[in-house]
Parts: sequence; C-alpha cells; structure tokens
Amino acid sequence: MRNSTKNLKKLVCSTAAVALMMGVSVAAQAEMVIGFSQIGSESGWRTSETASIKAEAQRRGIDLKFSDAQQKQENQIKAVRSFIAQGVDGILLAPVVETGWDQVLKEASRAGIPVVLVDRGVDADQSLYLTKVASDFVQEGSLAAAWLAAETNGVCDVVELQGTVGSSAANDRKKGFESVISNFPSLQIIRSQSGDFTRSGGKEVMESFLKAEDGGKDICAVYAHNDDMALGAVQAIKEAGLTPGQDLLVVSIDAVPDIFKAMAEGDTNATIELNPHLGGPAFDAINTAKKGGDVPKWIKANGPLYLPDTAAEEYKKRSSS
Ligand code: AHR
Repeated sequence: MRNSTKNLKKLVCSTAAVALMMGVSVAAQAEMVIGFSQIGSESGWRTSETASIKAEAQRRGIDLKFSDAQQKQENQIKAVRSFIAQGVDGILLAPVVETGWDQVLKEASRAGIPVVLVDRGVDADQSLYLTKVASDFVQEGSLAAAWLAAETNGVCDVVELQGTVGSSAANDRKKGFESVISNFPSLQIIRSQSGDFTRSGGKEVMESFLKAEDGGKDICAVYAHNDDMALGAVQAIKEAGLTPGQDLLVVSIDAVPDIFKAMAEGDTNATIELNPHLGGPAFDAINTAKKGGDVPKWIKANGPLYLPDTAAEEYKKRSSS
C-alpha cells in the first residue's frame, strides 16, 4: 500500500472515531426526554412561556414532547398518561385548574417519573410532584390592591375580571387582592366575573359591567387577573365613551409587551410582572432529582410592579427581544 493511501485510511478511521464519539455525546445529551403538558394559548403571556420553554429545551439538547391541552383538564390527563407510557425522564405540567390531579400524579409517581408544576399550582399531596416553579399569585393580588389603595386613598369601587374558574392563578390573585382591601372599608369589589384570561373575554365581561353600572360612571377601577383581559376591558371602556387610565384606573398582571404600549399611551396604570422563563429552573430541578439531590417544593419566580413612567422604555426593550 502506498504511503498516501495508508495516511488517507488512517484519517478516515480517526475521523470516524471522532464522529462516533461526537455522536455518542450528542445522543447522551438528547437522551433526556421531557413531556410538557401546556394549558393552551389563551394569552400573550402563555405564548411567551411556551416559546421560552421550547427554546430552553432546544438549547439544552432536550427532546421535548409538547402537548397543547386547549384549556381542557381531560386533555392534560391524557397527555400525562401518554408521557408515562412513553417512559419520559420527566414531565412539566402547567395545570389548567387546581383540583382533580391526584390520580394521574400517583400514576407518574408510581412510574418513578418526576413531575414539575410550571406556573400554576395544584391542590394535591406535595409528595406527588417534585416541585412547583411559579410565582406567588397571592402576593401579586396583594401588590395590585396595595397600589390601588395608595392611588385612591382607599376609596374606590372596583370591578374584577377573574381568570379561568378553578385555576390557582385566579383563586390566589383574588385571595391576595381581597386580603389587602379588607383593611380599607371604602375600597370594595362591586362586580366580579371570569373573562377566562382572554382578551375577548375581558372585553365581553367589561361591557356587561359597564351596562350594569350605569355606563360605568361609578366604577373607579378595573382589577384584571391578566393583561390580556385588561386590554379587552380598555377597548370596552373606550367604546362606552370613557377614558381608560383616567375615568377608570386599570391594574393587571403579566407585564406583556402590549400592556406597556397601552400604559405608555395612558390607557392602563400598572402591571405586575409574571416571569415566563420557567424552563431553566424546571429542567434543572429534574436534573438535580435524577442525580439524587434535594429540590425545594416551591421555586419562586416573582416579578415587580411597573408604572407608566418606564412603560415606553419597557415596551421598546420587550417588543424588540
Ligand atoms: O397562570 C398564569 C396566567 O395564565 C397568566 O397570568 C395568564 O396570562 C395566563 O393565561
């Protein structure tokens, strides 16, 4: 064999060996298979959360099995069962409502598959899931109420746009708000109804509040459990001939780009940030548990309250990223 042919053979062999090694390491990274049962795409925040978790999985070489439940708990239960049957390494679950999870969580636990709750909580035995990566919704509601109490000197008739009935986000944001306003006898909720966390729901419910309250003249403020409903309410208020942000104060939760635009234009008055980047801590928790490490039962991801003074700047930052 000529020398040059020998050298070429050596090169091919060593390249193949490197490729094989690389292949092995890529496969080792991609070995982590995670199922993600998402609620749906009811709001701008939810869309960002989905995109962020998918991007984080891709960045880490995780094979993410994504399932959109279209707001139905039964679809989430089916998805979790299918993840269990596939033998995934872990499950992320964003539970649409708080109750009714015990059975399926027991099934995951029996299969030795860690479940991480992302964003919302469940009313179930804590031993049935690994951890919850979420903000404190009670605190968000309290913050909204404290801001409103200061802004109105504790005198205000509020209408409340609740999130999805039975969700921990709606239950706890209501609880937090009510616990603070209970200290202000002249600050009260005069009407409260679910707009299901959607823009159209917020608009529809706000229209009915305005009709019921003499065109809205006596409503002092809107407390919306998310920004999308607040934006729907803003539309309804304008169509009723009133000026949102002035005739009626508007406070909401999420801090999506569109609310900063509305705030910069004077249509709303305050928002509380809900962090959508929950994938990193959730995947870390599964990794830690797989290595036998301890994971706290609640990994908190709370955000601050934003006011109109920084809204234009925040909108610019968030809409370009
Ligand atoms: O669970 C969090 C809530 O769900 C967000 O505030 C809302 O926008 C979403 O749909």
